[in-house]
Amino acid sequence: MNSIKGFGLGLRTEHYAAFEAEAQKRVDWLEVISENYMVPGGAPLWHLDRIRRDFPMVMHGVSLNIGGTAPLNLDYLRDLKALVQRVQPGWVSDHLCWTGTNGVNMHDLLPLPYTRETLLHICERIERVQDYLGRRLVIENPSTYVAFAADQMPEWEFVGEMLLRADCELLLDVNNVYVSSFNHGYDPQNYIDAIPAARVRQIHLAGHETQDGYLVDTHDHPVCDAVWQLYAYTLQHCGGVPTMIERDDNIPALGELLDELDHARLVHALALAPAHPKAIEECTT
Ligand SMILES: [Fe+2]
Repeated sequence: MNSIKGFGLGLRTEHYAAFEAEAQKRVDWLEVISENYMVPGGAPLWHLDRIRRDFPMVMHGVSLNIGGTAPLNLDYLRDLKALVQRVQPGWVSDHLCWTGTNGVNMHDLLPLPYTRETLLHICERIERVQDYLGRRLVIENPSTYVAFAADQMPEWEFVGEMLLRADCELLLDVNNVYVSSFNHGYDPQNYIDAIPAARVRQIHLAGHETQDGYLVDTHDHPVCDAVWQLYAYTLQHCGGVPTMIERDDNIPALGELLDELDHARLVHALALAPAHPKAIEECTT
């Protein structure tokens, strides 16, 4: 049974001092970016160890390159496993994407063609990583801006198949579903409906912005009303799921994020309360 429950935030350097100064009772757990702490020593690990004493943590990676065609990076996996042993996270996540090839990390989460071949490829790699780490992986759905002519299935079908075939779990980023649905012109509720609810381990919420007619997953704004509404819809499909807010740019004072996290608690409570659709509508608009 996993002990991580409730509502979390991403740990950012701007908030180290606030988390170290006093126990923040309004945060149940923290998500750390794995690569920031896959280092031999120094200040990041010092802060990590100190804050870990007061908060349960989960680990979120950006460089596993699970969709890439280059062999899995064994040095990376060794360092990831060492960090898992240090942090003892509730779970370990990364993204449904590829991030580089020929030894080059492009530091971007690049889209995959949703084909049978890709599905077999990615499931085989997920299984190998899970065997190596001795635990299930949690994979996050991406935000995308292009689709491939080679696609053989919609993303939600690919994700659902991946979860069952590789026996992994999903980090369901509700903002990513919303952003991608807008950019590709599909109904985000159809995406949510197709997800195997029991496989959803964590939810991400974040802000986005409009650029040249597209929605771009910038993580630099508060969560918008449409994403709050899709979050409520998601909870009614999945039941209660540990939820966190991602903010990676325009990072405000911690208090502002804590207020936004309280709003997530309210939406969560109303979405799961019996027969209160009107109240949900009022609090998400
Ligand atoms: Fe996310």
